[in-house]
Amino acid sequence: MTIRSIVILTGAGISAESGVPTFRGPDGLWEGHRVEDVATPQAFRRDPVLVQRFYDARRAALRNVMPNAAHLALARLDAEWPGELLLVTQNVDDLHERAGSRRLLHMHGELNSALCAACGAATPWTGDLGDHPPCPRCAAPRLRPDIVWFGEMPYHMDRIGDAIAACDLFVSIGTSGAVYPAAGFVEWARDAGASTLELNLDPSAGTPMFDEARHGPATQLVPAWVEMMLRARSY
Ligand code: OAD
Repeated sequence: MTIRSIVILTGAGISAESGVPTFRGPDGLWEGHRVEDVATPQAFRRDPVLVQRFYDARRAALRNVMPNAAHLALARLDAEWPGELLLVTQNVDDLHERAGSRRLLHMHGELNSALCAACGAATPWTGDLGDHPPCPRCAAPRLRPDIVWFGEMPYHMDRIGDAIAACDLFVSIGTSGAVYPAAGFVEWARDAGASTLELNLDPSAGTPMFDEARHGPATQLVPAWVEMMLRARSY
């Protein structure tokens, strides 16, 4: 099959070898925190100090990590692939853009962005939010992390849906397949007639849905797959 259009979905597993913790599993973020305490609008209303502290710490930690070989390989694919390509990430870190990816959408928001709960403006932000800085647009001291919390609508769903409907190949990298709607993208892609490939450390909840699954660390699997794609110009 000739591949022209590729959609790639990434999750926390692609950043794990950079030192960014994943969510689920023994060392995962959700082992140390209950999702309901830090990642819902209700949690933010109930205890904004705890929620801001959690995301301020994660934002600060980004300064100490670097893109790894998997991020860099996807940036190379973005630069060199002659056809359509869209990288959709569930990650809120900035490692894909620091690696050089351009055709990139953050469906769960970004740590380096602040969202004003008063005027709705999103502003690039690398500092803390816990000390109530004013919104650069409206001056209200109501900035929150620009993160899609449980119960909120992921970003860019129309563009993502259109890209998946038109893709020839859907590739899922480093995600557990536990959180919808991203976990359902493989089914959308199959419905659209695309080939589907999973690259993950170990089998995920979604593995049976994929045409092919390769298991191992992202820093090995992703550069090898990108090399193959760029050599063959097809899957
Ligand atoms: P998870 O922590 O649920 O899953 C990470 C996946 O990466 C697992 O399947 C691991 O096996 C795999 N993995 C770990 N290390 C890896 C490595 N070195 N190479 C390849 N794969 C590796 O993270 P996500 O699937 O991204 O949402 O979680 C989805 C969403 O749930 C997140 O975006 C977040 C979370 O709640 C929000 O915060 C809104």
